[in-house]
Amino acid sequence: MLEKLNEIERLGLEALETVRDEAALEAWRVAHLGRSSALMQLFNGFGQLSKEERPVMGQRANEVKKALEAAFNARSDELRQAALKRSIEQERLDVTLPGRRVPLGRLHPDTQILRELYRIFGEMGFQVYCSREVESDEYNFQLLNFPIGHPARDMQDTYFVESEGRGDNPIVLRTHTSPGQIRAMREISSRNPHNPAPVRIVLPGMVYRYEQVDARHETQFDQIEGLAVGPGITFSDLKGTLADLARRLFGQNVRTRFRASFFPFTEPSAEFDIECFLCGGKGCNVCGGGWLEIGGCGMVHPVVLQNGGYDPERYTGFAFGLGPQRIAMLRYGINDIRYFWENDLRFLEQF
Ligand code: PHE
Repeated sequence: MLEKLNEIERLGLEALETVRDEAALEAWRVAHLGRSSALMQLFNGFGQLSKEERPVMGQRANEVKKALEAAFNARSDELRQAALKRSIEQERLDVTLPGRRVPLGRLHPDTQILRELYRIFGEMGFQVYCSREVESDEYNFQLLNFPIGHPARDMQDTYFVESEGRGDNPIVLRTHTSPGQIRAMREISSRNPHNPAPVRIVLPGMVYRYEQVDARHETQFDQIEGLAVGPGITFSDLKGTLADLARRLFGQNVRTRFRASFFPFTEPSAEFDIECFLCGGKGCNVCGGGWLEIGGCGMVHPVVLQNGGYDPERYTGFAFGLGPQRIAMLRYGINDIRYFWENDLRFLEQF
């Protein structure tokens, strides 16, 4: 029986040498230390041994069991260490790699051109005045000399926000920044009604028109309105201001032109064009005929001055409404106005 125990020990330790993973280790445990293992069978047979034999065999059998258990634990540790080592090698993290750059934001091209316009107009003595985007019909049209039902309203297809119960004064998304002229003049003239201070302001912001969309028309776009009111302001001041603006934006050689036009709130009125750099004046899908219309302008109509609290006998003024996106198109060579609000990063990241 002693020999049998020695054999069990030898075979068990030998078999353990070939164990390479957890599954094999578990199989080994069942085979060599489990209930039906040869060793446990021996333990079960101790009842048949004599009184003298029993302690000797018992001691040896316990030794063998302890030896096998110790070997099992040692192997189990080895396997765990090996697995850990493997995972450290395979899933190595190189903490010395340079970090990923956090992408930096930038200003939208429209914001960039607006800021440039604020700077230029600021140098010319104009202050920025912000007016509201949601307007009443009264401010958007009536006070600007578009009476109810006047055909000139058809020039500005309108989004009506609320009309119920408002009679002739529905709420609209402003179709132009011109209603800001009235709001600014009223605010300034109310401070000193008998002798109101002169006005030099620009009014930037979004305007909305229910329009046919193409390469140079959008239903939503920016305008920057200009307004100068004071004693003795003439049409030459208007021409000089806009021509100077064009030179500051595009250089000394830029070609500009004024075309006679009509707006109910200016008299006389003109359109202001800059030669299209996109096609070099030949005519393209952006400009049409070689000139890009940048905005409308004119001398403030006496009725509008009056509505703003300025006596047209003492004050004159000029006004203009420009499209900053049209300016940005010329500036950056953008051939379709629809890119501005599409939020396509391939476009926006170029500025
Ligand atoms: N408000 C006019 C438009 O949007 C432009 C304009 C502004 C014309 C000021 C004259 C004076 O079409």
